[in-house]
Amino acid sequence: MPIIPFDDANPLKLGLPVDDNATRFSNYFHVLREVIHWSNGWLPVEPAFHAKYVLGEHIHDDARAQVKVRRRIYELRANEDWPGAPSPELAAQLDRLASATTPAEHAQIVYGQLKPALIRAIELHIDAIDPITDEVSLLVLAQLLERQAGHLAAAAERWDITPEEPFTTDLGALDIIKRETRDLQLLPRLDEPARDDFVNVTPDGDPYLGEGLYVNGDENHVPTEPEEMRHFFHGLMDAELCAAELMARNSHEHPEMPWDFHVDMARQTWDELRHARVHEVLMKTELGCTWGDYEIGFDYFKSIYAFDLVGRLLLFNGTSEQKAMWRHSHRRQVLLDLGHHNVAKVFDYLLADEVPHVHNGVRWGTHLLGGDPAAYREKMKELREGLDRTGQPVSPPTPAG
Ligand SMILES: [Fe+2]
Ligand SMILES: [Fe+2]
Ligand SMILES: [Fe+2]
Repeated sequence: MPIIPFDDANPLKLGLPVDDNATRFSNYFHVLREVIHWSNGWLPVEPAFHAKYVLGEHIHDDARAQVKVRRRIYELRANEDWPGAPSPELAAQLDRLASATTPAEHAQIVYGQLKPALIRAIELHIDAIDPITDEVSLLVLAQLLERQAGHLAAAAERWDITPEEPFTTDLGALDIIKRETRDLQLLPRLDEPARDDFVNVTPDGDPYLGEGLYVNGDENHVPTEPEEMRHFFHGLMDAELCAAELMARNSHEHPEMPWDFHVDMARQTWDELRHARVHEVLMKTELGCTWGDYEIGFDYFKSIYAFDLVGRLLLFNGTSEQKAMWRHSHRRQVLLDLGHHNVAKVFDYLLADEVPHVHNGVRWGTHLLGGDPAAYREKMKELREGLDRTGQPVSPPTPAG
């Protein structure tokens, strides 16, 4: 059924000229692109788990939205004029976003200025179009509006956002600079991620967690006693956060990569945060402990982050995540045999999500190695020679700068 019923007797509305329509979507494109880029940069240093989660969820949502917005621009005006570069007016706001100095300041600009501007523009856009000739735009806009409004509500619960005076009455009506592009700046290299202030970060992490938990094969130890399960899931929650943070920084630090790479990274960032959330609930409801009960450390994170993008993708996604699949399946079986159905279920879902995560490593690692599977295997062999029994690089490179 069309949106407007068959028996509606109203004439067609004049609506928007196609060029103006494409320009409006181009402005949304510019906002979403930079919000995603900077949210990825700031996600690791946002200390509060729940705020980090919201940021990751919105990165994923915005990446999916941007796919639809790009597609609509392409359908409306498939030539080099669109999306172009943002007008000086919008560019000034995007520059402001680029110069944020804390995750809270970033959140203020995104949720206090840019997303409200996006929402107002979409509302005006929906009013302006003819819903019969441009039902396609209407569907994209209606979904975008609903999701962006949800983002504002979620952000208000996580950060202290002050609504700002709008920088423009209609973001969608701003001109674009045709045939130009805008470069993205980068945050400085990350020293280490941030955790809730009640979490104790130490150089060695939780001393309770032994190597046997992270090796494959006969020697793999599956924690089944309450005390060891508490430590294990706490460590696992932190590992999920580190995984999300690595993916977010992969995206932020490599704006030159194809757009599908950023969508894949956004999906994995959200997946890993969802996994952390699963462990948070499991600890509280089944294991009798809570996030922050034990120490955590950033040794593994730093050993992977030290590598360039190829190294990170091959070592984290292509190796660590690939080997984790065997352990998740082993853990599931051992726990099922003992009647721990809910905990076993968790590992089955972690295993399912791990498949696309490993694929991200293979696909984008191969892409970076010139699309040559033989070069991928060669590089993988070289990198794996530098790993210890648990898959941690023994002597990670010293990053330049
Ligand atoms: Fe995960
Ligand atoms: Fe994983
Ligand atoms: Fe994963």
